[in-house]
Amino acid sequence: MNIGIMTSGGDGPGLNAVIRGAVRKGIRAHGFSFTGIRDGWRGLLEDDTHPLHMVDVRGLSGRGGTILGTSRTHPYSQGGPEQMRTVMERRGIDAIIAIGGEGTLAGAARLADDEGMPVVGVPKTIDNDLDGTDYTFGFDTAQSIATEAIDRLRTTADSHHRCMVLEVMGRNVGWIALQAGMAGGAHAILIPEFPVSYEQIFDWVRSAWDRGRAPLVVVAEGFVPEGVEDQVADRGTDKHGRVRLGGIGDHLAPLIEEATGIETRAMILGHLQRGGSPTAYDRVLATRLGMAAVDIVLNEGWGQMAALDGTDITRVRMADAVDNLKLVPRNRWDEVQVLLG
Ligand code: F6P
Repeated sequence: MNIGIMTSGGDGPGLNAVIRGAVRKGIRAHGFSFTGIRDGWRGLLEDDTHPLHMVDVRGLSGRGGTILGTSRTHPYSQGGPEQMRTVMERRGIDAIIAIGGEGTLAGAARLADDEGMPVVGVPKTIDNDLDGTDYTFGFDTAQSIATEAIDRLRTTADSHHRCMVLEVMGRNVGWIALQAGMAGGAHAILIPEFPVSYEQIFDWVRSAWDRGRAPLVVVAEGFVPEGVEDQVADRGTDKHGRVRLGGIGDHLAPLIEEATGIETRAMILGHLQRGGSPTAYDRVLATRLGMAAVDIVLNEGWGQMAALDGTDITRVRMADAVDNLKLVPRNRWDEVQVLLG
């Protein structure tokens, strides 16, 4: 059995650990061989592949990024499934492990369920918004980086008696903002799932200030203040069809300054959250998922992905996992209210 393995969509810390886990388990436990596919579906469509040996995955568990490269190429572009089958036959690839987020797994599910292709998945996203799995690797690293940013912003905010606004990733969900905001002691946490008004934000800032604190605001990039939702429709989409987000942190800072009279600065954490070495938690989770994906291949569980259920690694249908995003639930939002302001 020769397994083609690819990483697709936005990168995230832990991708290399998945590759290492899969290759080691596949070779050592089952005698499989591996083919690395470069830059996600692009590599399969364009026959950009190479053999992947044990030596290639040596020392990879702590390395950020992905040795295979990634892209947002759609699996149904450039000849789609037919072209993929041709390349798989040419290279002797019997099955595919696709490591990626919602878009990648939706494509992989379609290839398996509609085209009958031998594809399994490993869920990845720093946003932690994939259903069917309790956590995705990369998220713990991202929330740790965001928490450290809050800690660092606090000392400069205290020194200058300023308010600081930290914009973190999360275009549809607020998991990073919620968790880092709790961990770092933010006075306002703003997430897409639960829009609040400008007035509520100003109140939280004033309340912290009145207690002698330098106010810290954490906002997820996809947050839209209550009452201005119609403005989002005007932003247009990028080349991947995603709504242009437009920098909510930079939008809020001058408004906070004007309304409260407190000097305010914003910072966008951006791709720092996706770069660099994964935490120990993410390395372990990613390694376990990579190993489990190989077992799914062994059982010919096409259309399934490895997932985390509590502390157990399980398998779920990819099609089910990509049906809905995993939003921050109401009870997590209610719970945090007493910590704000
Ligand atoms: O989905 C992960 C994510 O990091 C989002 O939080 C973010 O909006 C997006 O990817 C950024 O993508 P790109 O790297 O294409 O700018």
